[in-house]
Amino acid sequence: MKAGLIVKLIEAHSSGNESIFEKALLDLSSDEERKGNSSIALSLKKAYSSDKKPLASLSDSPISNMSYSAQGIASIPKDKDSTLELVDVMQSTVKLSDVALNEKTFEVLNQIIDEQKKAADLLRKGITPTNRVLFCGPPGCGKTLAANALAGELGIPVAYVKLDGLISSYLGQTGTNIRKIFEFVKNKRIMLFLDEFDAIAKKRDDSHELGELKRVVTTLLQNLDAMPASVFLVAATNHHHLLDPAIWRRFDVSILMELPNQQQRVMIISKFLKECLEGYSIDANVITVLTDGMSGAQICSFMQSLAKHCVMNEVDPDNVLMEDIANVWLKHTTLFVSENSEGYIKALSELSKNGVPMRTLEKITGIPKSTLSYRFNKEVKPDGRE
Ligand SMILES: Nc1ncnc2c1ncn2[C@@H]1O[C@H](COP(=O)(O)OP(=O)(O)O)[C@@H](O)[C@H]1O
Ligand SMILES: [Mg+2]
Repeated sequence: MKAGLIVKLIEAHSSGNESIFEKALLDLSSDEERKGNSSIALSLKKAYSSDKKPLASLSDSPISNMSYSAQGIASIPKDKDSTLELVDVMQSTVKLSDVALNEKTFEVLNQIIDEQKKAADLLRKGITPTNRVLFCGPPGCGKTLAANALAGELGIPVAYVKLDGLISSYLGQTGTNIRKIFEFVKNKRIMLFLDEFDAIAKKRDDSHELGELKRVVTTLLQNLDAMPASVFLVAATNHHHLLDPAIWRRFDVSILMELPNQQQRVMIISKFLKECLEGYSIDANVITVLTDGMSGAQICSFMQSLAKHCVMNEVDPDNVLMEDIANVWLKHTTLFVSENSEGYIKALSELSKNGVPMRTLEKITGIPKSTLSYRFNKEVKPDGRE
C-alpha cells in the first residue's frame, strides 16, 4: 500500500472529519483496485463499518448494477450561491431490529418494506406501493433511525437533504434547490429523506413568514405531486403541528414515534447491555423503571454514562450495585440542577419511590436519611400545598 495514502488516511482520522476520512479510505481502496488487489480493496471498504457508508463504496452491493456508480458523487446537486451540496448520499446498514418500536409501528413498517421490496411487480400492475412516509414525534424517539432502518432493510441508498445548503438566503433560490433535489432522485431507486421537514413545509398562513415561504411550500407540493413512484420519500419532523395542511395529503402514511413504552425501553436497554456492558450483571428491571419518561436517545445517553461509570470506577462486573445505577441516574437527571435544590430533592424522591433504599440515597448524596425523609414529605403537592 502506498505510504502517502496511508498517511493521508491517518491525517483524515485525526481531523475528525468523517467525509474526509471516507474520501481518504476510498482513495486507498481505489489504489489497491488499480493494482489488481481487489480483495484488499474490498476488505478496506468492508472494514469501514458505521451506520452509513458512502455511495461510492457500493461496488459490492446488488444495487451497483442499477447505474449507481455512474451516478457518482460529482453529480450531487449544489446550491448555486454557496456551492454547498444539497444532499448527502449514503448507504444505511441499520436494520428494523435495531429500532425499538411499538407493535403497531413495527407492523406498519414491515408492511411498507414488503411493498417496497415488491415495488416493481406492483408498479407493473398499475398499483403504487406505499412510498411517502412521514415520521412525527418528539426528538430522540427514533425517527431518523427508523428512516435509516427502512433504507437498510431495502438495501437502497438514502439521499439526506442538507438544510444548510437547501435553505438559501437568496430569494427564490430555495425553491430552485428543491427542484434540483427532486430532479436528482427522479430516475433513481433511492430513498429521499427530508429530515426537519417543517423547515420547508410550514403552514403558509404563518404571519411571521414572508412570501418566500409560500413559494417554497408551493414548489414543494408541485414536486411531491410530480415525484415518480420509484422514489421512496421519507420525511421527519418534531413539529408536525406546524406543517401546512396541504402537505399531509401528499403522504400515504404518517407515523407517530412517541416516548418508548416499557417493552421498547427493555429492548433498548438489553441491546446496550449486550453490546457495551457484556459480562456485567446489571438489573435491567431497575433501569427500565428509572428510564420511564426518557426518549430513546436519552436512554442511550444514560446507558453510556453507566458504562463509563463502571469502567472508570473499576466496578466489579459481578457486583454492580443499585448504588451505582442510582448514582449515575441522579447525575444524569440533575445535570443542570444545583444540589439541595427542589429539583434535586425531587429526583431523589423519585429514586426512593422506585425502590432505591434511603441508606443508598444517603450514601450517594451525603445527606442524612432523616433530612431526606423530611424534605420528601415537604415536597410541594400538585395543588400547591406543602
Ligand atoms: N426507538 C428507538 N430504538 C432504539 N434506539 C433509539 C430509539 N429512539 C432513539 N434511539 C437512539 O437515539 C438516537 C437518536 O435517535 P433519532 O432517530 O435521531 O431520533 P429523532 O430522529 O426522533 O430525533 C438513535 O441513533 C438511537 O441510538
Ligand atoms: Mg432526527
